[in-house]
Amino acid sequence: MTNPTNTTKVLPKLKRILVIGSGGRENALAWALQRSHGIEKVWITPGNGGSSQHVGCNQLPTKENDVQSLLNDCSSNEIDLVVIGPEAPLAEGLSEQLRQVGLTVFGPCSKGAQLESSKDWAKKLMKEAGIPTAKHWVATTEVEALSTLEQMQCPLVVKADGLAAGKGVTVANSIEETKQAIQEVFQGKFGNAGEKIILEERLEGPEVSVFALCDGKRMIVLPPAQDHKRLKEGDKGPNTGGMGAYTPAPLINENTLNEIKKSILEPTLSALQEKNIAYRGVMYAGLMLTNSGPKVIEFNCRFGDPECQALMPLMGPELAQVLQACALGRLNQAQSLSIKKSCSACVVAATSGYPEAPRYGDLIKIEAHSDPSLQLFHAGTKWDENGNLITSGGRVISVVAIGETFDNAFTNAYNGMKKINFRGITYRHDIGNQVRNGW
Ligand code: AMP
Ligand code: GLY
Repeated sequence: MTNPTNTTKVLPKLKRILVIGSGGRENALAWALQRSHGIEKVWITPGNGGSSQHVGCNQLPTKENDVQSLLNDCSSNEIDLVVIGPEAPLAEGLSEQLRQVGLTVFGPCSKGAQLESSKDWAKKLMKEAGIPTAKHWVATTEVEALSTLEQMQCPLVVKADGLAAGKGVTVANSIEETKQAIQEVFQGKFGNAGEKIILEERLEGPEVSVFALCDGKRMIVLPPAQDHKRLKEGDKGPNTGGMGAYTPAPLINENTLNEIKKSILEPTLSALQEKNIAYRGVMYAGLMLTNSGPKVIEFNCRFGDPECQALMPLMGPELAQVLQACALGRLNQAQSLSIKKSCSACVVAATSGYPEAPRYGDLIKIEAHSDPSLQLFHAGTKWDENGNLITSGGRVISVVAIGETFDNAFTNAYNGMKKINFRGITYRHDIGNQVRNGW
């Protein structure tokens, strides 16, 4: 006999998914969602030169901020689930605009996205919830900021309050550098994002990214990942969006990950709930492992890029249903998410001049391969009018490989990198050295 209560527990039909965004992260998400149980088709909008290259994935031209066209796309393609990749549309309220017409959306509402879009708001929430994080001071004028610096008498971290495409942070090495960074923000270097400034105590320790898939009340924590933010080998040169990543990062063992869940992720989700925010999407904690334990450097309201590219090949075929269940606030009704016990390595090929002055428009050549443990996720690529694939963004392609060991995974990823060529191709040769044998 069937249990009648079971019928109320069945999640709605899930066959057609729209992924919004144009980076390597969105291509990796679409690829993994397309491989999930029962999925017929995945659309990516606006996508990039690689969006239609994965079997079952199709590209649409609609931009992230064109809400009316996105609504039309969802309706004409009978979309069952929308997954929003980047932070800007989340901060602008795209989730609630799509939910208003009854769509199922994975990605927090604009209030929840303040975890990333306002550092001041996020810091206040962390303080209220007792989340371990760097001490901070807020200033709305240069005089106020300089007076805090005068009192502290040590170099501080200077952050523009709003979204600044990952560029609004200066980790100053001296009081003079701190002063300069404060002046730059108030001179308008980051536009509106710098109308308010956050000064922070400088923490020390390795950094790790932890991601939780949240349904408003519950969460699934994914394997920790480590990103390589600096452009040059040896972690030198300017900060970038990320030049490579690997997962699971052995910096955090299962016990520490559980502690992080209990002391950081769950209290943050509860604090959001107390503010009546049903946070349904990715909670990304950028952590620093300090001598006095893990502390939050920042929260983001979406997957990291390139951490997402490294994570997706490890996700089981339940992923699409899990994201749908998060979007519906019903994670308890989803199948449990299986995660491959492999090592995953991601190396990013960037264009010359990245990040300050990326060079675009160069022809990209990619040698075909048939290795199922190797994936190429496009980011800054597009097709020109003559049907040639050309560079169109700073980070061009992520090469991702999985293996039984990090050695295998990185060897495979770097072999994969040799299959790509474009003028000025730039990538780090030392991604993951810290987890490879014999380095
Ligand atoms: P954020 O955009 O807040 O993640 O900052 C960018 C980078 O600046 C981080 O990945 C850290 O490497 C560094 N950073 C930010 N805040 C601090 C801090 N309080 N202490 C030391 N480094 C920091
Ligand atoms: N990889 C860092 C970020 O996505 O913010």
